[in-house]
Amino acid sequence: MRIASAADFRAAARRRLPRFLFEYIDGGSYGEVTLRRNVSDLAEVALRQRVLRDVSALDLSAELLGQKLAMPLALGPVGLAGMYARRGEVQAARAAQAAGVQFTLSTVGCCPLREVSAGAERPIWFQLYVTRDRGFTREMIAGAIELDCPVLLFTVDLPVPGSRYRDVHSGLTAAPGLRGRTRRFMQALGRPRWLWDVGVNGRPHALGNVAHLLDRKAGMLDFLTWSAANFDATLTWKDIDFIRSLWPRKFVIKGILDPDDAREAAATGADGITVSNHGGRQLDGVLSTARALPAIAEAVGGGMTILADGGIRSGLDVVRMLALGADGVLLGRAWAYALAAQGGAGVTRLLEIFEAEMRVAMALTGVTRIDQIDRSILA
Ligand code: GLV
Repeated sequence: MRIASAADFRAAARRRLPRFLFEYIDGGSYGEVTLRRNVSDLAEVALRQRVLRDVSALDLSAELLGQKLAMPLALGPVGLAGMYARRGEVQAARAAQAAGVQFTLSTVGCCPLREVSAGAERPIWFQLYVTRDRGFTREMIAGAIELDCPVLLFTVDLPVPGSRYRDVHSGLTAAPGLRGRTRRFMQALGRPRWLWDVGVNGRPHALGNVAHLLDRKAGMLDFLTWSAANFDATLTWKDIDFIRSLWPRKFVIKGILDPDDAREAAATGADGITVSNHGGRQLDGVLSTARALPAIAEAVGGGMTILADGGIRSGLDVVRMLALGADGVLLGRAWAYALAAQGGAGVTRLLEIFEAEMRVAMALTGVTRIDQIDRSILA
């Protein structure tokens, strides 16, 4: 079947990836209620169809956080993306920038910041988790400054990792030592194309940004264990000052779901927030981002840049998020599925699909520019 949508990429990714990798990207926490709500609440947002308004010249470009982008979207941080295709983050960053949008590297990506930056046309965005070891934080930020990253997304909704049943069932977590490795190896054997592309030719398999903190023989599971053990649960709003004192460029707090927290974020002087529940991977049962966004936009909109993620599976969904109050969006699973299915070419195709879908949504709601998309196009 030819790929026509993000959903098709998901199906293709499922066929291509070993089970433990597909479940890691596809799954959420607990019963996955919030994960499903992210998708269904957004899909239920109805738009007003308007006609006869000369929509022959559509301009999808936008300025976000000082960056001129072809569309108001960026690829958001996705952990382990380099396990979905050979040196996956490098491929995805190239594809994103060639399409005129941006790429955000996760602290727990596979390719280190230096490798992705070297492979990209322009400086990329970086996402930071703060670990107990403040020396690591300083080092990461210094690296991002040296490599000219213009935007830092600071993730605050992962003081502890969410409980993800699928990762236990698949053998990604909670299957220590040889037993876990054997299970994952058996799953990989059933996926020969992945095995050749990533298993054999995609080495090293490590969390590139933290590899130097672990011993040389550390496996992927040691990395996950390390990150779970080292994320810092003591962080408070006061620590934002510490990060900001190290980071002179655009600063975005990622993982805001409540208007009161959005106001606190604005009070820190941050340039922006990302309205996010970590793709339904953290606290299950919280509001979908589509439901949380309007009140947050009401609280801080205009004063700071509002990004949103969660449940965005089409260009139509991008327009919906903008109508609900976002200035731009981050894609997560959508690009990871595309990367898994077809590498960088898949990401390129996905972004073409999103662009075409945004054009239809804009034309039929009667808007020709991104800044015209607001609550007035909601039914
Ligand atoms: C990491 O941020 C994850 O959600 O797995």
